Amino acid sequence: MRFIAIAFALIPLTVSALELSKEQRAAIEARIQPYSQVCVVGDDACALGDAIAEVSDLRSGEDVYNAACMACHSTGAAGAPKLGDALAWSDRLSQKGIDALYDSGVNGVAGTSMIAKGGCMDCADDEIYAAVDYMLEQSQ
Ligand code: HEC
Repeated sequence: MRFIAIAFALIPLTVSALELSKEQRAAIEARIQPYSQVCVVGDDACALGDAIAEVSDLRSGEDVYNAACMACHSTGAAGAPKLGDALAWSDRLSQKGIDALYDSGVNGVAGTSMIAKGGCMDCADDEIYAAVDYMLEQSQ
C-alpha cells in the first residue's frame, strides 16, 4: 500500500518534468552546460578551435632554429651569417631591413645554399619569422 502511495505521489513530479516548455528546457540546458569546452585541432564544432590551434601549434623561433637553421647558421657553412655574429647580422639588417630578411627566410636567397625555409617545408611562415627573430636576438 505504501509503495502505491509513493508511486502516485511521484506522478505529478514526473509529469511536470515532462511538461517543460521549450524555453524552460533551453534555459536549463544553458545553465548546466560544461564550464569549459575542450577544443580538438580541426574540430569545426568548436568555433575557437582553429584559432587556438594556430597559436599553440607554432614552434618557437629557437626550436625552429635548432631543427632547421642551425646546420648552416651555427657554423657559417657556405657563407651563412653565423648565429652570434653581430656584425654580419647588423649589416644585413641595416642594408636590407627586417622584411627582406623575413622574405629570405621564407623564400631563400637565389644562387646560394640558403634554400626556401632552410628546407623546413612544414614550417609556417610565422615560424620562419620567429627563427629569423631568434637569430637576430642572439646576434646583437
Ligand atoms: C643549407 C644551409 C642553410 C640552412 C639550413 C639555412 N640557411 Fe639561412 N642562409 C644560408 C646561407 C648560405 C646564407 C647566406 C646567403 C647569402 O649569401 O646572402 C643564409 C642567409 C640567411 C638569411 C639572411 C638573408 C639575407 O637576405 O641577407 C636569413 C634571414 C636566413 N638565412 C634565415 C634562415 C632560417 C630562418 C633558416 C632555418 C629555417 C635557415 N636560414 C637555414 C644557409 C642556410
